[in-house]
Amino acid sequence: MKLKNLVALSFIFSLLACAPPKPVKSYNQGLHIVPQPNSLVEQEGVFKITDKTVIVASTEDVKAVVDFFVGKIELSTGYTLATQVEKPSKNFVSVSIDSQLDLNEEGYTFQSTPSGIEIIGKSEKGVFYGLQTMLQLLPAEIESSQLVTDVDWNLPCVEIKDEPRFKWRGMHLDVCRHFVPVENIKKHLDMLAMFKMNKFHWHLTEDQGWRIEIKKYPLLTEMGSKRIEGEGHEYGGVYSQEDVKEIVAYATERMIDVVPEIELPGHALGALTAYPEFSCTGGPFKVRNIWGVEPDVFCAGKEETFKFLEDVIDEVVTLFPSEYFHIGGDECPKDRWKVCKLCQKRMKQEGLADEHELQSYFVQRIEKVLLAHGKKMIGWDEILEGGLAQSAAVMSWRGEKGGIEAASQGHDVVMTPGNWCYLDHYQGASHNEPVAIGGYTTLEESYGYEPVPKELDPEMAKHVLGTQGNVWTEYMYTPELVEYRVYPRLIALAEVNWTQKSNKGYDHFLQRMDNQFVRMDNHSINYHIPLPEGPSNRVAFTDVAEVEFTTTRPVKMVYTLDGTEPTAQSSEYTQPFRFTDDATIRIASVLKSGKMSTDRTVKVVKEVFKPAEEVKTTKEGLKELYAEGNFIRVADIEKVTQWDEKDNSKKSSKHYSYENPSASIFTGYLEIPEDGIYEFQTNLDQFFLGDDLLINNDGEVKRFSRNNVSIALAKGKHAVKLIFLNNIIGGWPQAWNGPKVHFRQVGEEKFTTATKSDYSF
Ligand code: ACM
Ligand code: ZN
Repeated sequence: MKLKNLVALSFIFSLLACAPPKPVKSYNQGLHIVPQPNSLVEQEGVFKITDKTVIVASTEDVKAVVDFFVGKIELSTGYTLATQVEKPSKNFVSVSIDSQLDLNEEGYTFQSTPSGIEIIGKSEKGVFYGLQTMLQLLPAEIESSQLVTDVDWNLPCVEIKDEPRFKWRGMHLDVCRHFVPVENIKKHLDMLAMFKMNKFHWHLTEDQGWRIEIKKYPLLTEMGSKRIEGEGHEYGGVYSQEDVKEIVAYATERMIDVVPEIELPGHALGALTAYPEFSCTGGPFKVRNIWGVEPDVFCAGKEETFKFLEDVIDEVVTLFPSEYFHIGGDECPKDRWKVCKLCQKRMKQEGLADEHELQSYFVQRIEKVLLAHGKKMIGWDEILEGGLAQSAAVMSWRGEKGGIEAASQGHDVVMTPGNWCYLDHYQGASHNEPVAIGGYTTLEESYGYEPVPKELDPEMAKHVLGTQGNVWTEYMYTPELVEYRVYPRLIALAEVNWTQKSNKGYDHFLQRMDNQFVRMDNHSINYHIPLPEGPSNRVAFTDVAEVEFTTTRPVKMVYTLDGTEPTAQSSEYTQPFRFTDDATIRIASVLKSGKMSTDRTVKVVKEVFKPAEEVKTTKEGLKELYAEGNFIRVADIEKVTQWDEKDNSKKSSKHYSYENPSASIFTGYLEIPEDGIYEFQTNLDQFFLGDDLLINNDGEVKRFSRNNVSIALAKGKHAVKLIFLNNIIGGWPQAWNGPKVHFRQVGEEKFTTATKSDYSF
């Protein structure tokens, strides 16, 4: 190269070296480590990662961990950091293990100064978490898988000494009700690693499908993984043993143990559909296509059942290095065992007092199989029934009682009570959120969970291994919905598990989450953003309307009144609206990063009381036209050529069963007690008032009505039409709802269910 060019080049380099600092985005300002470290002291100055920064890995044992982070950092920064043994005087990240550190096995110390970073782990795991903390101290964009050029890779100087409070920091995932593809599971594992969690409890077998390949029993996946949905199509999904190995390797690289769950003796219809000979009745069966618990379970009387389960376990243990193996054990109905000759014979032979002791016998036989493989058995708290197997650990889910009992008996426990740890619960109003199984657990409630029950003395408390979020996927129809339910509540549980109680604080957690949400954006995680809640989608009024919105946690709301979609720059909602005329509100929540929730549209309608009809009716109730057939959408009833009039004078709505699908059209009059604004709620397919289609749930999973409306009605009789399709959509049988309409006057807290005496025809 010519000297002239060299001079020019070095001039350009010197310009680059003195490049002005890039603006620090608001969510990157300050410290925002999650989970909060247990000791953190802020110091002056920053350390800057550049393409010249070297990683000092003095020993082989940290090399694999270091390589993982070097690869990750390269994606977002574009820097390929060199790894070497000698420590330079500056611009280094030194990583080592000191097994003498005064911390537990996963602990680490971290010190950053302007010249370098020193990370010491008690073990490889400690090193991994120390390096995660380093990422957490860098701008959120470090999590990008694309090159980022608009941030400086600066990291504040701090001194941290940190270790987890609990050993079991887990996430459970049911992949049976709905299948979660390998790539989506990897996204969860990335999140677990980022938030220092270490257990992935993989729920692989169910009444609704068997998902793991077992080479000796190919029908488990060929038949047992597939169900015909109520809508008529086939649903399935399996993991080959190669898929399993891929997941386990991915998790292991991230210090996560994958704990397999093979359910027994109940929740086994997937297996029994493929191999009905291991049931009490011999079948035949179909993989269950509705939610809930199946009465057909593994037969406890047949030796062949145990041989089958031993064979399955033989294959499964070779795939999972985890010290724990989950055997389920929950919700095993005893109906079949009570009338099965072989089960009863077994009880007699073994001197078992009842079917609960038979369950205990079952579990204890499996315990021996697992012990022979060097595995620790863990199961849901029903394994306490009839006597707990000696070496078993218990996962307490029906509240804390099972956990308290097991820990008192000296067994290890993982606390996963529903009120705090069930991430399938609603986290906002059911009227606004996608349909869920029920329950209500806010981020704050998950964050507030204390895994050590008061009832345990300090010695017993040592048996509490930690907590985990349980993710049952009945109402998580897509991988995106799984993410929506799981995050950010799982991250609250990550902090519950890692951070000592005295170092926790919900408000501080929320502040830190502003930055974490951006990290999750970089992983395309579809986390929940609180929705504007309060009014239904149609708000009727006669004089003045007051329309107030709230959110489940403090978050900015923005709105428009001109029908356009709100943006982060739209007007901020600061106080209730007052309207004296019709209006359309479009409103959404917006995070610090500018990320928006989905928006809601609320129609505000000025009305006069709709006049009642002057009609004479002679009978109570509604006239019902009825036709048999599997009608999924309302339009399908156009195919009906003959409707039968049903005499409802004797029967209750209990006569609907999902085994006999049907459609009903009800007509008649609803008696409104006084002039007023009435809000209606129903899980019916359609609800007409006069000629107006007031509520339309056509095609939805009609578990919890999402389409309430209000309307101004005068006292007296109002014509109604109800369309009720007794079908199964999304695993929920409409027969379980029945054709019910609920209403309340504005201002009333409770809804009233319209009964026969409210109707006439
Ligand atoms: C469970 O939720 N059935 C363990
Ligand atoms: Zn039996």
